[in-house]
Amino acid sequence: MPGATLMNRNIYMSPAPIPMTNSQQKTLLFFGKIGYNKLIIYVDLSERGFKEMAALDIGIDLGTASVLVYIKGKGVVLKEPSVVAIDKNTKKVKAIGEDARLMLGRTPANIVAVRPLKQGVISDYQVTEKMMKYFVQKAVGHRLLRKPRIAVCVPSGVTEVEKKAVEDAAYQVGARETLIIEEPIAAAIGAGIDISKPCGNMIVDIGGGTTDIAVISLGSAVESASLKVAGDDFNDAIVKYMRKNHSLSIGERTAEDVKIKIGTCFRRPEVDKMEVKGRHIVKGLPTSIEVTSEEMEEALEDSTNSIVEAIHSVLERTPPELSADIADRGIVLTGGGSLLRGLEDLITDRTGITCMTAEDPMTAVAIGTGKYVEFISTFRSSIE
Ligand SMILES: Nc1ncnc2c1ncn2[C@@H]1O[C@H](COP(=O)(O)OP(=O)(O)OP(=O)(O)O)[C@@H](O)[C@H]1O
Ligand SMILES: [Mg+2]
Repeated sequence: MPGATLMNRNIYMSPAPIPMTNSQQKTLLFFGKIGYNKLIIYVDLSERGFKEMAALDIGIDLGTASVLVYIKGKGVVLKEPSVVAIDKNTKKVKAIGEDARLMLGRTPANIVAVRPLKQGVISDYQVTEKMMKYFVQKAVGHRLLRKPRIAVCVPSGVTEVEKKAVEDAAYQVGARETLIIEEPIAAAIGAGIDISKPCGNMIVDIGGGTTDIAVISLGSAVESASLKVAGDDFNDAIVKYMRKNHSLSIGERTAEDVKIKIGTCFRRPEVDKMEVKGRHIVKGLPTSIEVTSEEMEEALEDSTNSIVEAIHSVLERTPPELSADIADRGIVLTGGGSLLRGLEDLITDRTGITCMTAEDPMTAVAIGTGKYVEFISTFRSSIE
């Protein structure tokens, strides 16, 4: 449409009346004028316009710890743990998501609760596909009239073969078109960064299994690193610390609790305390021990240090112009792992660059994935 900008699906905006062909005159309706500049709004009611209007765009954040589904116009409609419970004898899926998580560590011998995506790698394709299908159906809530466009965000570091497998799984779920997007790009879009500008932005996404660090400019990653140290390793570090220093054996869920309540990686003026329950490894009896946030700082030191070191090495490889942009704009954190207390301060202290967490770090990737579908379809329509 010469002179007009596509605003959304089948709505166009133009500063002046659009010169129309005969067929366009029948289908392109004048809608009104808006704004100070009196921009003219048209609605495209041709077959293509209708198709666009009825299209369903879905973004899926396929994470190690949780799966989020974003639907255009509705936002994030589903957030469930990426856990599947399987009957070992029959190989049948017994439960998916939150129901399966509750079974973790508590299942009878024949039922195993598995995480199909471990440390950012797809360890079981078939189960991943079943999980995706279940979540999409649950999120959409009714039978689909039109096949959706589905964008899936995969942990960076997955191989081409794995990407292809996710793409196939999305088609199995019923997608008309599939897009695979890497986590740092989705995280940046979700954190509200305009990635289309030639300007350097550093994004650090700390998830459950992986931390992705990337310098993004003009829509793609210029420098990046991905390390298998993230939120779940903080839990492991707490489990190890309790065993070594207090002879207390604790489970993964207790460690997560401790991390969220008193975990920190930077010295704070006040000291928090918490009673931690577990099994004494010598006596073998249930025991409760008080731990402090200062101890947690010690427990988490190695894991958080390796994240800071990785950020350092990405900064060292970053071209100077982009470095200057990052120094001005700061480092943006996303992902659930970034909620660990003291991380912003630690990174700011060690790099000398201001570090801030995105507004809603846990949903940033899902929102970014969903928005990417819109971005791509608008982009395509505008060059058609
Ligand atoms: N308040 C909190 N404080 C510290 N950590 C938290 C908090 N809330 C959640 N987490 C941690 O966030 C992690 C999950 O984050 P997220 O949902 O972003 O991961 P993911 O996207 O599934 O993983 P990945 O991106 O590695 O595939 C878990 O390790 C969880 O313990
Ligand atoms: Mg993630």
